Amino acid sequence: MKRILSGIQPSGKLHIGNYFGAMRQHLSMQNEHQGYYFIAEYHALTSNPDPNKLHEYVYGVAADYLALGLDPAKTVFWRQSDVPEVVELEWILSCITPMGLMERCVSYKDKVARGLVPNHGLFSYPLLQVADILAFDSEVVPVGADQKQHIEITRDIAMKFNNTFGTTFVIPEDYIIDSVAVVPGLDGAKMSKSYNNTIEIFEPEKQMQKKVMRIITDSKGVDEPKDPDKCNVFALLKLFADDAELAVWREKYTRGGMGYGEAKKRLAELMTSYFRPYRQRREELENDRTYIRKVLDDGAERAKVVARKTLERAKNAVGLRR
Ligand code: TRP
Repeated sequence: MKRILSGIQPSGKLHIGNYFGAMRQHLSMQNEHQGYYFIAEYHALTSNPDPNKLHEYVYGVAADYLALGLDPAKTVFWRQSDVPEVVELEWILSCITPMGLMERCVSYKDKVARGLVPNHGLFSYPLLQVADILAFDSEVVPVGADQKQHIEITRDIAMKFNNTFGTTFVIPEDYIIDSVAVVPGLDGAKMSKSYNNTIEIFEPEKQMQKKVMRIITDSKGVDEPKDPDKCNVFALLKLFADDAELAVWREKYTRGGMGYGEAKKRLAELMTSYFRPYRQRREELENDRTYIRKVLDDGAERAKVVARKTLERAKNAVGLRR
């Protein structure tokens, strides 16, 4: 059993791209490993969210995870800002982090290119992630391919620290979540809140159906043969249909005589029924913030025990001794 850690940014309502890209793996890994999952509020602050929305999203993310099966008896689940030791650790780490290493991180440039305000938090955010990972003695960090660089710099910084000051940190490995995981959005681009092309996991079923009907396809007529591998609807069907059914759709596409509307209708059915078993629990949680708060508070207590020890080791190592 390894300790696995991951952070989830509360930057919007969770959507199907989040689910297949990360959540599903988080949820299944909690059974074979010791899961440490937290809501990365300090990371979300880098994009200057509306304060009321940020607050709502934190509860939304927590409710979504709990409804979909995060088990607080097995998994430590908390809000990042309840364990401020991490931010203290970040400072200690920042003083041994070469500027060049930070300047090589692509996420800052990518985000600025996408129009985010180039604030210092956005620039130094990978280092907060380094502190997140090291504070909890994480052994495995499941992330999407876009985050691989951050695990690499975590290893660099941890090794440098250990070499300079003596063994203090566990060196983590990455675990790149395999990418069935490029989930297309309504317009065919990667499903992402910033592209405004998402289908939320728990949006009302009617609305989910409507969105599916809006997915962009080419304009081939019913009779024409179609290429399933170039179709956004088919790409989503792959996530929900079993292999036997998928083979049937592949055949329908290539043979012709099937309109995209037919595939969309089936996709909407599969999608709504996939998440249906979790809806009731999600609704109960919506109205039970006391429970959510309790889960997150308990998680924070448990997380703090670990982070305190790591921070103490790091402080001692650099000479901040009493
Ligand atoms: N940076 C991650 C993202 O944008 C979220 C995150 C924050 C994270 N801290 C982490 C992921 C630590 C893994 C480990 O999605």
